[in-house]
Amino acid sequence: MQNTDKSNKASPLSVAIIMDGNGRWATRRGLPRTEGHLAGAEAVETVIRTAKDEGVRYLTLFAFSTENWKRPREEVDAIMELVYRYLKAKALPMIEKDPELGIMFPGDKSPLPQRLRELCLYTERLSRGRQSIVSIALNYGGRADIVNAANSAIGKGELPLNEEIISRHLYTSYMPDPDLVIRTGGEHRISNFLLWQSAYSEYIILDTLWPDISSGHLRECISEYNTRVRRFGGLKS
Ligand code: FPP
Repeated sequence: MQNTDKSNKASPLSVAIIMDGNGRWATRRGLPRTEGHLAGAEAVETVIRTAKDEGVRYLTLFAFSTENWKRPREEVDAIMELVYRYLKAKALPMIEKDPELGIMFPGDKSPLPQRLRELCLYTERLSRGRQSIVSIALNYGGRADIVNAANSAIGKGELPLNEEIISRHLYTSYMPDPDLVIRTGGEHRISNFLLWQSAYSEYIILDTLWPDISSGHLRECISEYNTRVRRFGGLKS
């Protein structure tokens, strides 16, 4: 679903973030990488609150990619455990208290640890129909998303495929495409994140490492977004 509002004067409706730099944050402090992820989880809370205050209705956070399984077993286990604990202790109470807020988990949940998978499914059921959605991408890959969407549409006989059909079968079919994609940690790459959905997104790269991200950084990104002129391949009006 493409947001074609060209006025650009309000907050972006849909913001997606590649949360990079946890490992470097920890290494620079002489700490194990897992401490960086722990600090990263605290930053997640700050950013969710700020995004909501700023009127961002859809916030998508890249927490674990289909490629992240290649990391050492201890690091993968630590991230899974951290996400589980964060959901149980912080995210679930947040959506139980706030009937407008929901949480979804785009990605293939089947290889996730069972209790995390069940908690994700429970949270998604609770989140149905909510007007403001935080998406935590878990075992998410942009290429896999497109392939799955195509197979799912073909399986339902929705042929010939077209862009609207593919969009409807993506993991993110419940949300508009991101207006703005932010990447922390200074690297200039997309890392298999929302490949289809970010076709016309504005990009901002921050050198700040994810655990150091603050409300101010997000607000600055939104101001910067508001200076951009979006043409969606057309001409400036
Ligand atoms: C990338 O930094 C970060 C990850 C692969 C994990 C992201 C996880 C969190 C932010 C914490 C848990 C999330 C939630 C939703 C509670 P990196 O490890 O690649 O950093 P580096 O580039 O400095 O090595």
